[in-house]
Amino acid sequence: MPVLTDIATLGTCPPVGGQGEIGLIENAALVWEGGAVAWVGREADLPDEFADLPRESAGGGTVIPGLIDCHTHLAFGGWRAHEFEQKLLGTSYLEIARQGGGIASTMKATREATKDELHDRARGFLDEILRMGVTTVECKSGYGLNVNDELKQLRVYRRLAEEGPQRIESTFLGAHIVPPEYKDDRARYIRLLTEELIPQIANDGLARFCDVFVEDTAYSPEEARTICKAAATHGLRAKLHVDQITDKGGGVLAAELNAASADHLECISEEGIDAMASAGTVAVSLPLATMYLNLESLPARKLIDAGVPVAVATDFNPGSAPSYDLHLALWLACTRQRMTPAEALKGATAYAAKALLRDDIGSLLPGKKADFVVLDAPSVNHWMYHFRPGTAMRTVIGGDTAREKKNTPELSS
Ligand code: NIG
Ligand code: FE
Repeated sequence: MPVLTDIATLGTCPPVGGQGEIGLIENAALVWEGGAVAWVGREADLPDEFADLPRESAGGGTVIPGLIDCHTHLAFGGWRAHEFEQKLLGTSYLEIARQGGGIASTMKATREATKDELHDRARGFLDEILRMGVTTVECKSGYGLNVNDELKQLRVYRRLAEEGPQRIESTFLGAHIVPPEYKDDRARYIRLLTEELIPQIANDGLARFCDVFVEDTAYSPEEARTICKAAATHGLRAKLHVDQITDKGGGVLAAELNAASADHLECISEEGIDAMASAGTVAVSLPLATMYLNLESLPARKLIDAGVPVAVATDFNPGSAPSYDLHLALWLACTRQRMTPAEALKGATAYAAKALLRDDIGSLLPGKKADFVVLDAPSVNHWMYHFRPGTAMRTVIGGDTAREKKNTPELSS
């Protein structure tokens, strides 16, 4: 049962309060036991019962809850670097999709990859992601788009979850696009999703969420309704890729379907914002995808003012967001979406946990999991302002040190 001291600033990131309320404590101490937080507060107020516990130093850094990347497409075959150039030269994401590139080309490469190949690559990504202090990662299927290959992706995620150290949450995204072999009979593919894949995935506990990409090149709102309602009868909660490139009433749809989150939302309408606020749906902002696709940012300030919790994630995937740098996504949420560093941090901790329906992670409060990061920065504000790689000095998951930077006795900020 250790005590962490010499913490310049600690953000508890409570699930309650507004977007910017991160429960800052200066000169803090943190006590954990059996994988959970036992006490947090000012070091000067450390209760007598903890006074003689072994002490560990945070070296004058900042302590935050372990970061949560609540939207990724982690396991996939191949890359699509040539599309990056095409997009820079003016071909749009939807045009590339209509020409048979985009998701369909990653589907092909993912089908060709073995389960072990997908696993080893995703393992490598997770190891890199851990270096940034990310302790929980949501992972979507959606590049298999048939029974065997969707299950293959989800089983890779299950194996990664079993291996640790990061916590993994899986989402079934069989409705990413309609695979080419079903293009003349989409209804038949939707029946495959609702009558075969969803029941099996729910039965095998392979995912907690069911996601649908609602877009001209993917699924209509009506099709999303059918798929999400079937998923709900099997206990899978909806998540939606909506209002990214065209406004399809995604915010209203997410509220109607009691979705855990609506993600992207660059084109969300005022009506959509109001509906999400009333339903308490989390908006997941994906600023890396916004930048790669050269879109206008989602209206973060309007969402926050309306009372919608805004989470921030990477959307890591080989097409629209080929980067897993959550710190960079948070910095973009600040600079492009005009969120404060505190608001962005809450979006990758307490509100990201909410987007995953997890009430045991994302906050450093007694009883929550002892998932935390020691940052080489004197404050949250400074961490985001003086943006640079390698700021996570020590990452603890469930009370155990998952990674510690070596040979850095003194923090440099
Ligand atoms: O979240 N928008 C749809 N799906 C992914 C992109 C997947 C891809 O391009 O491979 C996204 O942006
Ligand atoms: Fe996505």
